[in-house]
Amino acid sequence: MLHAEGQWSSDIDRLRQEFSAELSGATTDRALQAVRDKYLSRKGGIVAALMKSVASAPTAERPALGRLANELKSEIEARINEKKERLAEGRPPEGALDVTLPGRLPILGHRHPLTVVRDRMEEIFTRMGFAIVEGPEVEDEWHCFDALNMPAEHPARDMQDTLYLASPMRGDGERDLRTLLRTHTSSIQIRYMQAHKPPIRIVAPGRVYRRDNLDLTHTPMFTQVEGLAVGEGISLSDLKGTLLAFARDMFSATSRVRFRPSFFPYTEPSAEVDISCWQCDGAGCAMCKRTGWLEVGGCGMVHPAVFEAVGYDAEQYTGFAWGIGIERVAILRHQVDDIRLFFENDLRFLEQFPH
Ligand code: DAH
Repeated sequence: MLHAEGQWSSDIDRLRQEFSAELSGATTDRALQAVRDKYLSRKGGIVAALMKSVASAPTAERPALGRLANELKSEIEARINEKKERLAEGRPPEGALDVTLPGRLPILGHRHPLTVVRDRMEEIFTRMGFAIVEGPEVEDEWHCFDALNMPAEHPARDMQDTLYLASPMRGDGERDLRTLLRTHTSSIQIRYMQAHKPPIRIVAPGRVYRRDNLDLTHTPMFTQVEGLAVGEGISLSDLKGTLLAFARDMFSATSRVRFRPSFFPYTEPSAEVDISCWQCDGAGCAMCKRTGWLEVGGCGMVHPAVFEAVGYDAEQYTGFAWGIGIERVAILRHQVDDIRLFFENDLRFLEQFPH
């Protein structure tokens, strides 16, 4: 039989493929021996037949063909021996699934620490009978300021503090109410009261925005949980009791709450809310800067002007409200010294929190 060299090498490739398929199918010593006989038997083996046809090739082609045939022969021998060892050791055959390898687990994510605190706050207040509501982050001046008894000249409305959005000029040359990114969640109180009659008990969590530069204690976006209760005969002691129950659940069973007189246009009286330091139980330590108290937010009794803005009878109803910073609670709870860490999303930071 005469072969051109190209024809030879494709025949040899085909042989090699057939051999590989049969070798991987041989999973017992017996089957492996049958493959060995088929290819390597001196009499009638495929490799022997190949060698014979090399011998009968034209002299000029013989060396090249001989080399190809010998290469195949050595490869077949080596692979049969290797497989034999594998079978002897009980190792899985080449290319097989090794079920003893440890599995690869998908990386599981978890809630952000601020989400954990927010969820916890929602859970605590829900248990006290408050409903969770939300409101728009893009607000108008009326809901964010006017209705909250913050008239046009109020300093919080200053361009320095508030992020205003461009408001289109109307056909008559007047501008509509300016829109802005809400500076506090208190605007949700207004929206909710406009849409509902008392009695009301809500908490409204969400993002708020201010024109602040980034530093240890400021970010231009942060989050608050607003609270509002309106009804007949609601008093300041109801407010204090509610916040005390919150503090005892969130921080420590022995937490105490202190109101420091303050001012907010939408409450009268108004107070800053301090919680006794849960680290030293009020004795004074580094965390509370030796004061024994940690500030978490503002609160007060809803100002009659706010009730009037939403059409409630300020003679009939009273109510209380608060705004608590979620970052503030998370910072105190976990002793974080830089608020910016919450927003950089560095996993080395985030993974330290219980989820
Ligand atoms: N809106 C205040 C702030 O942004 C927090 C606040 C204080 C909310 C007193 C209230 C309140 O509802 O009664 O810091």
